[in-house]
Amino acid sequence: MEIHAYEKLWLALALVLIVGFIGTITYGAAGAGIDMIDDKGGTVDPATLDQHPKFGDPGIERNGENSYDVYVVARQFVFEPGTTEPLRVPAGSTVTFHVTAADVIHGFEVVGTNANTMAIPGQVAEFTVEFGEPGEYGMLCNEYCGSGHHVMEGKIVVMEQEEFDSWYDQQQAQGEAEN
Ligand code: CUA
Repeated sequence: MEIHAYEKLWLALALVLIVGFIGTITYGAAGAGIDMIDDKGGTVDPATLDQHPKFGDPGIERNGENSYDVYVVARQFVFEPGTTEPLRVPAGSTVTFHVTAADVIHGFEVVGTNANTMAIPGQVAEFTVEFGEPGEYGMLCNEYCGSGHHVMEGKIVVMEQEEFDSWYDQQQAQGEAEN
């Protein structure tokens, strides 16, 4: 069978395109340090979040040397913590986020990083981030969640370890005084 030269060129270009598309999708899914968020964070009852041992008083908790858990509740139209008060974490630490929503679906994105998840009522999104240098990050809601969606934002402050430690100890002491 005789195939015209242009026909061959066209077929070759089409093949290159297909391989290119598969390549970009594979890179987007598995490359660039991207890790998908699965269901390992477990579930929680959104109606009784206030009584939950962690989400009832969300925030940061030390769980080991340079290792922390952070509990965040997203609700119309704030992050707790993050909006009223910044979420404080120490530099050079490993932080595991546990994010859920109290009312409707929200987004939780740490601006300028690849930390980004949906916050779904009843579901806990869990992912681990390493914060290197001190600095500030914005956090924002990237799922439409109602009339205040566009103002739903917060802040993460990455502090020097010593500065963080004294803040953390003070928080712990306050928490004990309240209980
Ligand atoms: Cu919360 Cu959009």
